[in-house]
Amino acid sequence: MKKIQLKARIIANKKVSSSHYRLILEQKDILRKARPGQFVHVRVNEGLDPYFRRPFSISRAQEHLELLYAVVGRGTEILSRKKAGDELDLLGPLGNHFCMPPKGTRNVVMIAGAIGIAPFFMLSDYLRDKNYELTLLYGAKTKTQILPMRSLKDNGCRVYIATDDGTQGIKGRVSELYAKIPIDTQKTFIYACGPKPMIDSVLAFAHPNHLKGQVSAEEIMACGIGVCLGCATKTKTGYKTVCKDGPVFDLNEF
Ligand SMILES: Cc1cc2nc3c(=O)[nH]c(=O)nc-3n(C[C@H](O)[C@H](O)[C@H](O)COP(=O)(O)OP(=O)(O)OC[C@H]3O[C@@H](n4cnc5c(N)ncnc54)[C@H](O)[C@@H]3O)c2cc1C
Ligand code: FES
Repeated sequence: MKKIQLKARIIANKKVSSSHYRLILEQKDILRKARPGQFVHVRVNEGLDPYFRRPFSISRAQEHLELLYAVVGRGTEILSRKKAGDELDLLGPLGNHFCMPPKGTRNVVMIAGAIGIAPFFMLSDYLRDKNYELTLLYGAKTKTQILPMRSLKDNGCRVYIATDDGTQGIKGRVSELYAKIPIDTQKTFIYACGPKPMIDSVLAFAHPNHLKGQVSAEEIMACGIGVCLGCATKTKTGYKTVCKDGPVFDLNEF
C-alpha cells in the first residue's frame, strides 16, 4: 500500500506579504510524486487542537516542497509560528491534478483570486517552454496581499493584476480583467483557483463563450482522503468529493 502519511522537516517559513507565508519543506517522496493542483493535508500541531488537518495546495515542487498560505484562523496562525527545523506531519500528495491543455491550445489563461494563486506557480513550471501564450489574471484585496510574481514571470507568464482598492493594477475584481481572455474555443484554455464567488464569475464568463478549462474547488475538509464525505460538492454529474474526486474539476462539471 502506498504510504501517504509522512513527516516533513521545515527548511524555512517566511513571511512574503502582509498576510502570507511561504513554507519550504524537505519531503522527498511527496516532492517526487506531486503534480500541479494536488494538495497536502497538514497536521499543524502535535495535540488535538486543532483536531483536523488543514489542506494546502502544493505551490512548487522543484528542489523542495513549497506551500503558500494565508493566515486566516487558528490553524494557519499556529503554522505561521513554526520554525526551521520543526517537523510537520503531512498526508500527500492528495487529490487529482490539473491536466495539460488539450492539443491545439495556444492561449493558457490562469485566473487566481487571493491565495488561489498558490498552485499556479507549479503549473507554470510545467507549462513553460511549451509554446503557449501564458497569462495570469490575479485579484487580491490590496497591494500588500499581492505575492511576489517573479517565478511566474520567469516562466514566461504575462501578469495582470486587479486589487479591490486599486493600490496595484486596476481597481476592482479580477473579473474586470476577463476582457484579456481570447475568446477562441479551440485555442484558449482556462485554469481557475480562488474563492467561490470568483469561480462563479469564471463559469459565467466561460460557459456562454464556450471556453474550455478546469477549476480547483475549495471546501472545508476533514479526512482529506474521500472517507468522511464532508467536502462533497454538487456537480452536474452528482455530488463529488473535493478531496478525492477533485480538487480539480472540468469547467463543464459546474
Ligand atoms: C484543496 C484545497 C487547497 C487549499 N490550498 C490553500 C493554499 O494553498 N493556501 C492557503 O492559504 N489556503 C489554502 N486552502 C484553504 C485553507 O485550507 C484554509 O484557509 C485553512 O484550512 C484555514 O485554517 P485555519 O485554521 O487557519 O482557519 P479556520 O479557523 O478553520 O477558518 C478561518 C476561515 O477560513 C475558512 N476556511 C477554513 N477551511 C477552509 C478550506 N478548506 N477552504 C476554504 N476556506 C476555509 C473558514 O470558513 C473561515 O472563514 C486550501 C483549501 C483546499 C480545500
Ligand atoms: S474531507 Fe473527507 S471526504 Fe473529503
